[in-house]
Amino acid sequence: MKKINKICCIGAGYVGGPTMSVIAQQCPEIKVTVVDINKERIALWNSEDLDKLPVYEPGLKEIVGEARDRNLFFSTEVDQAIDESEMIFISVNTPTKTYGKGKGQAADLKFIELCARDIARVAKTDKIVVEKSTLPVRTAEAIKSILENTGNGVNFEILSNPEFLAEGTAIDDLLNADRVLIGGAETEAGQEAKDALSSVYEHWLPKERILQTNVWSSELSKLVANAFLAQRVSSINSISALCEKTDANVAEVSRAIGFDSRIGPKFLNASVGFGGSCFQKDILNLVYISRSFGLEEVADYWEQVIIMNDYQKRRFAENIISTLYNTVSGKKIAFYGWAFKKDTNDTRESAAIYVADALLDEQAEIVVYDPKVTEETIYADLDYLKTRDPQENRRLLKVVTDPMEAAKEAHAIAILTEWDEFKEYDWQKVYEAMLKPAFVFDGRRLLDSDKMNELGFKYYKIGQS
Ligand code: NAD
Ligand code: UDX
Repeated sequence: MKKINKICCIGAGYVGGPTMSVIAQQCPEIKVTVVDINKERIALWNSEDLDKLPVYEPGLKEIVGEARDRNLFFSTEVDQAIDESEMIFISVNTPTKTYGKGKGQAADLKFIELCARDIARVAKTDKIVVEKSTLPVRTAEAIKSILENTGNGVNFEILSNPEFLAEGTAIDDLLNADRVLIGGAETEAGQEAKDALSSVYEHWLPKERILQTNVWSSELSKLVANAFLAQRVSSINSISALCEKTDANVAEVSRAIGFDSRIGPKFLNASVGFGGSCFQKDILNLVYISRSFGLEEVADYWEQVIIMNDYQKRRFAENIISTLYNTVSGKKIAFYGWAFKKDTNDTRESAAIYVADALLDEQAEIVVYDPKVTEETIYADLDYLKTRDPQENRRLLKVVTDPMEAAKEAHAIAILTEWDEFKEYDWQKVYEAMLKPAFVFDGRRLLDSDKMNELGFKYYKIGQS
C-alpha cells in the first residue's frame, strides 16, 4: 500500500486548520503543511500566543501547541507544499454564488478550480487529491478534467472525503468521528488511494468506522447529511410556533418524540433558527442540483427547510416588536450572543444578524455582548447585508465587552446564542439594571421560566406560551 509521508492542505480555515492539526497530532511521522493565500490567517496560525489562533475551538490550541513546528506547519508557500506532498487536501471555501447562473443557490467553485489549476501546474510526481470541501455531486469530474488536461503528465487520483465536524466540538468530532467517508474511483488505483487515506485515519479510528464508497455517493452524502440535520431543526422549530399557540411546551414534545428510538433525541432543540456556514449553503446547493435535473418536487421539498428557518428568525424579531408595544424605535435592546452557536467565534449565517437587521429597520438601539466575537466581525456581518449604510449600523448598534453594561437601562434582552456563561449570571442584578417592565426573549431556551418570572422579568421562551 502507498505510504503517505507528506500531506498538504490548501485552505487554513475552520475545517483545514483543526482537521490537519488532529492528523498531525495523531500521525507524528507524517509531515503536514497547511497553506493559504491569506497571509494574515497564516500569521495567526503561527502566533506565539496560542490564544490568538484564527479559529476558536475547545482543545485546539493544546493540539497546535503540541504538533506545530514538529510535523505541523502553516505556510503561504502553496507551490512548495504541493510539490513535496503525496496527498493534497483541498479545503477551501465553497460559498453560495453571488453572481451569474445559479446566483443565490449554486456553490461557487472558483476557489476549487484555482486549486486544481495550481496543483496541475506544480505537480511533477503522482498525487492523491482529496476533496475535503463540501462540493456538488460530480465535482470530482471537473477537477479530474482540469488536472489531466493541464498537468505535466503525472497521475492524479481524486478522492472525496467530506468533513462532518461541527464547530464548537470540532476536536472531539475529529477524534471520535462517528464515521469517515472516503469516495474514490472503483479501479485498482482508486482502491489504492482510498486505502492510503484510510490508513491515515486508522491511526486513531477503528477500521469499521471508515466507509468507502464511489466518489459520487460520497459527494452527495455530505449534502444529504446536512439537509437531514437542518430538516430536524426546521421541523421542531415549526412545532415551536404551534406550541406557543396551544399551551404545549416544545421541550416536552421534543422529549416525548425523541424517546422513540426511530426518531432519537438529538437535533430537536427549538431555537431562533439555525445558522452556520453549512446548512443553508448546502441545502441551497441540493435544491439547485435537483432543479437542474428537472426534479422540481424534490427541490421544493428541501427548499421548505430554508423557508421555515427564515420564518423562525423573522417570527422571533416580530415577537420582540409586538411585545414591546409595537415599537422599538429608540429602545435599547441588549443582544446576548452573536455567534451562530456556543463555543465558536464563527458568525456566518448566524440568526443574530437577521434578527438585528429586522430590529434596526425599526430604529431599535442594539447593544451586543458576545464572549468570543469581535466588534469588527459584528459590523462586517451587518454591513455585508447592505440594508443601510455602515455609519447607520455603527450609530444604531454598539458592541460591549461587559454583559452588565449591555443590560444597563435596556428595555429588553434577546438571547441569541446558548453560551453557558449566560446561565451563570446573577439575573437579579441584571433585572435591577434594566428598565421596567424588563423583557427577556430567550431564543435558545436557556433559562428557567419559573425563576425568571419570580425575579420579575417578562420572560418569553421560544416554543412555550
Ligand atoms: P473558511 O472560509 O474558514 O476557509 C477556507 C480558506 O481557504 C480561507 O482561509 C481561504 O483564504 C482559503 N483559500 C481559498 N482559496 C484558496 C486558494 N486558491 N489557495 C489557498 N487558499 C485558499 O472555510 P471552512 O469553514 O474551513 O470551509 C471549507 C470547506 O469545508 C467548505 O466547502 C465547507 O462547506 C466545508 N465544511 C465546513 C464545515 C464547517 O463547520 N465550517 C464543516 C464541514 C465542511
Ligand atoms: C453542521 C453539521 O452538524 C456538521 O456535521 C457539518 O460538518 C457542518 O454543519 P455546524 O454548522 O458547525 O455543523 O453546527 P451544528 O451543531 O450542526 O449547528 C448548526 C445550527 O443549528 C446552529 O445554529 C445550532 O444552534 C442550530 N441547532 C442545532 C438548533 O437550533 N437546534 C438543534 O437541535 C441543533
